[in-house]
Amino acid sequence: MSDIGYLKETIQEAGDFLVGDGADRESQTKLNAKDLVTVSDIKAQDLIRRRLLEKYPDAIVLSEEDTAEQQRPMFESDFTGYILDPIDGTYNFKRDMRESAISIGYIENGQLSAGVVYDPYKNELFEAQVGQGAFCNGQAIHVSDQQTIDGASIGTSNSYDGAAMERNLRRQLAIYEQTGIMPWTHVHGSGVLIMTNIASGRFDAYHHNGLKPWDNAAAFLIIREAGGVVHTLTGEEAPYTSATVLCGTLAVVAELEWVFADIDQSLLA
Ligand code: IPD
Ligand code: CA
Ligand code: CA
Repeated sequence: MSDIGYLKETIQEAGDFLVGDGADRESQTKLNAKDLVTVSDIKAQDLIRRRLLEKYPDAIVLSEEDTAEQQRPMFESDFTGYILDPIDGTYNFKRDMRESAISIGYIENGQLSAGVVYDPYKNELFEAQVGQGAFCNGQAIHVSDQQTIDGASIGTSNSYDGAAMERNLRRQLAIYEQTGIMPWTHVHGSGVLIMTNIASGRFDAYHHNGLKPWDNAAAFLIIREAGGVVHTLTGEEAPYTSATVLCGTLAVVAELEWVFADIDQSLLA
């Protein structure tokens, strides 16, 4: 078990640091010119890891900015430990868009156990523990009661991989082509924030084909605990290691699955 109160203190400290003295946007590119790591990503990662290890010296704490070799255990079916994304929405952070978040998920024996997400710009702290509901700043949250694509907000988020992004956008357009309904569309720069928006009932559904465990761990649990569903693009319950996701309200996700069954199936990978 992990102490959710301690996770909340830790993530808030890291968020306050990011918007204060820690707002250092010096960056290096990773895979391409849009895929960045800033000085702040590393500093926030180090701060969170240090805090978690102070309390849990034997814990495994893995982060987006670790090497692939270091990250390998998070894909094992009996993994127990923390997975963190020190800044989700790094491109936004670099450009001072003020639309980024921090995410920490706790996995026990391969299962999502607890998650916290902090948006330091709106001062919103989302939390969930398995079986105990989801909360934002201590208030219970719930997905919307949207029942149909008609009137729904449905979106995707950016991908650093051009071909993967093309599939994200083609799926979004396919909704219009198949139904004649163009959803209220967002293409966000923080997958985590679009998912906490779904959990808060502000947004109805999200689809993407290139997510990583550090994007998913906390946000998947928060959506489920808020009454939403989190599937893969091919309709299975999505594990936190899933690269593809279709999540949102049960009814809108079901309708989208019906729509996506009829589109070019290569768009679902
Ligand atoms: C990215 C953001 C983006 C999503 C990408 C992620 P990062 O995370 O969440 O919205 O579409 O797939 O990689 O790199 O800013 O932490
Ligand atoms: Ca990140
Ligand atoms: Ca991320």
